Amino acid sequence: MKIIEVQNYDQMSQQAAKIIIETVQDRPQTVLGLATGGTPLGTYTYLVRDHQLNGTSYKQVHTVNLDEYVGKAPSDEQSYSYYMNKHLFEPANIPKTQTYLPNGLAANLEEEAERYTHTLQSLGGVDLQLLGIGKNGHIGFNEPGTSFDSETHVVQLTPSTRQANAKYFSSESEVPTQAITLGIATIMKAKRILLIVSGIEKAEILYQCLYGQIDEQIPASILQKHPHVTIIADQEALSVV
Ligand code: GLP
Repeated sequence: MKIIEVQNYDQMSQQAAKIIIETVQDRPQTVLGLATGGTPLGTYTYLVRDHQLNGTSYKQVHTVNLDEYVGKAPSDEQSYSYYMNKHLFEPANIPKTQTYLPNGLAANLEEEAERYTHTLQSLGGVDLQLLGIGKNGHIGFNEPGTSFDSETHVVQLTPSTRQANAKYFSSESEVPTQAITLGIATIMKAKRILLIVSGIEKAEILYQCLYGQIDEQIPASILQKHPHVTIIADQEALSVV
């Protein structure tokens, strides 16, 4: 694992965007695996700024998101689909037909998870997967205890994750209880992984992921086994040594 230490959130975002931009410029047909949450917002802002100033093109890129809440429509401001359209797909001019997220409104969620796996396979897998990390070590929505062999599946969100994500809703009770997420085995198939981590509240879990035992109770610890992971973390996130 390559660890890049930066001073703060802004530098983390800038560095992550630089890696994504170089990847897309190098291979315009790149399949990008994308994440949501607060952490990647700055990265997306830098991607959009570069697109507008320097014209980096995303016309041939395909994007596959990690997850979506069950019960949220793309028109719903709290859906990850809405988030991606607003913060990246529209301002960076990524053709809508080349962006994929699980359908949180599917009548049969298990079938939707399977369909999403096939979509990913038909694209030839993810070239570069951007990841954030939950305070309990989750990646995507793979909560502690999820099998390392898991593929795309429906999850019950833990109380701690619902509490952490409540800031995006008017109350915690409005946070969905389920989501569809790429599995851990699915995430591990990405050719390269870029994990971005910022803030003191992620320091303890980041330390465990980097140096602790590889354990299903800490989903992100599996990243130790991936051959091509880059971690960009700020000083606060790396403050536990
Ligand atoms: C959500 C997302 C994850 C994300 C995590 C951390 O649960 N499903 O992909 O990494 O939140 O979010 P934040 O970056 O806001 O701390």
